[in-house]
Amino acid sequence: PLEKGNRDLTQEVLDKLDSKQSPLQTSDDFPDVSQSEIKAALDRLASRSMLVYETKDSEQVQLTGEGEQIANEGSHEYKVWAAVHKEGKLALKELPSKVGADSAKVGQGNAFKLKWIKKYGDQLVPLVDSPEDTTRKALQGVQATKTLSDSKQLADFKKRKLVVVTKIIHYTVQKGPKYAKEIPVEVTDITPEMLESGSWQTANFKPYNFAAKGAVQNAGALHPLNKVREEFRKIFFHQGFVEMPTARYVDSGFWNFDALFVPQQHPARDLQDTFYVSDPAFADEPRADPAADAALDAMESDAQLYDPKTKIHDASKLDYAQYYKNVRETHQDGKYGSIGYRYPFADAETKRLVLRTHTTAVSTYCLHRLAANPRPCRYFSIDRVFRNETVDATHLAEFHQVEGVIADYDLTLGGLMAFLEAFFAKLGIFNLRFKPAYNPYTEPSMEVFGFHKGLGKWVEIGNSGMFRPEMLEPMGLPKDLRVYGFGLSLERPTMIKYAVSNIRDLLGHKVDLNFIESNAAVRLDKD
Ligand code: PHE
Repeated sequence: PLEKGNRDLTQEVLDKLDSKQSPLQTSDDFPDVSQSEIKAALDRLASRSMLVYETKDSEQVQLTGEGEQIANEGSHEYKVWAAVHKEGKLALKELPSKVGADSAKVGQGNAFKLKWIKKYGDQLVPLVDSPEDTTRKALQGVQATKTLSDSKQLADFKKRKLVVVTKIIHYTVQKGPKYAKEIPVEVTDITPEMLESGSWQTANFKPYNFAAKGAVQNAGALHPLNKVREEFRKIFFHQGFVEMPTARYVDSGFWNFDALFVPQQHPARDLQDTFYVSDPAFADEPRADPAADAALDAMESDAQLYDPKTKIHDASKLDYAQYYKNVRETHQDGKYGSIGYRYPFADAETKRLVLRTHTTAVSTYCLHRLAANPRPCRYFSIDRVFRNETVDATHLAEFHQVEGVIADYDLTLGGLMAFLEAFFAKLGIFNLRFKPAYNPYTEPSMEVFGFHKGLGKWVEIGNSGMFRPEMLEPMGLPKDLRVYGFGLSLERPTMIKYAVSNIRDLLGHKVDLNFIESNAAVRLDKD
């Protein structure tokens, strides 16, 4: 095969080795070939033992633009002298117009120092007839040989930016034990015919090139959101959280709202905010989801947080009909010490199918399930939610929530704040601020703010709170088992980490696949 530009460099090297007695010097014998090209050719031949070569590196002195100019036209001081000499005498202020401003400035002083000219009043007069322009001569030498042996002069030229010294790599090349005038025909495959005829025994096999770099593989790539999601999952798993099964984008009003003590008239339940499913429009009564139960059982036993002999979850202990009744009564009439909302609770509303508006619908399902065997536990989820929002550069009608819930006896709000501080510190966000907020299902509720160094301001990074007894007690959880939770979007940290300012560059049909493929993984705790 021919090398780049139709030039068969390997053949040229073989020819030169044949015609030359002494070793080749690639810098002399192939001055116009790049180092990588000549090395590739040498490696091909060396791998066949057709030649041996040694790598040498040496310094090369090269003229800068100014150095080149001096070599061609003379030094500044020479130009100054020549101008003065030509005129016999020259007014000082006329010098720049004769030799140019730069030469006048630099050359004048040097010409004085060398005693080529002197000042006579405001005139310059020549002192010598034919001075020797040693600077020019030395630079012409560099031009021809690319070397300069006088180290003092070299240092001086470097300082004056007339030359630069670069390292160059070249090779000395000699014939190897298997040298031939041409690369012999090489066999790349062994065939049945070769085996039959026995010709394989004498065939000249092409050597494997174990040093060759592999071709770039177009493998799949994780989407940036998934990369950040993995970081979050790691943080949760390290802190003893179990992942909740979130495979239900469509849920009922009961799990998304009612069970969370969201009143049926709440504006979040309006068509403007929530997507309702029209076909089918209604769910069954609230009941167990065997697939979700099996998934959570598996996650809990994988996590090995409990003694494997204890049955963590006994679904038969859960009475969904009773739970529904409790929720209904809490809303309509009040229960568990709460006066409730005191409105007529509509059963149809609980069955309406919605695209879940938050992953707290899943947390609620899992917390109710906890009533079968109440115990301290930590759950998290990261998945998609849907809201009927006006779409703009930072909002889509669907996004991902990162959510965690922690159940334990006698938890306090201070514990939640401490937890959130430790959690966000793992993401590299310190000094949180908490702002009182409102959620129908938590009291107290807090918005969480973090200082964004890049943006130089406080940004809202999450929502949190302690779940209300009106939500937990209908489930059958003991009064002193408190639960707090928090949620944040996955998109916001991802957009910050990958410096994406328009969400459509991250999700949807306008996404550049190249951007997805080429992005590195992230560390949330590193800027
Ligand atoms: N569901 C809340 C939201 O969508 C987040 C949250 C979860 C708040 C758990 C408190 C407790 O913003």
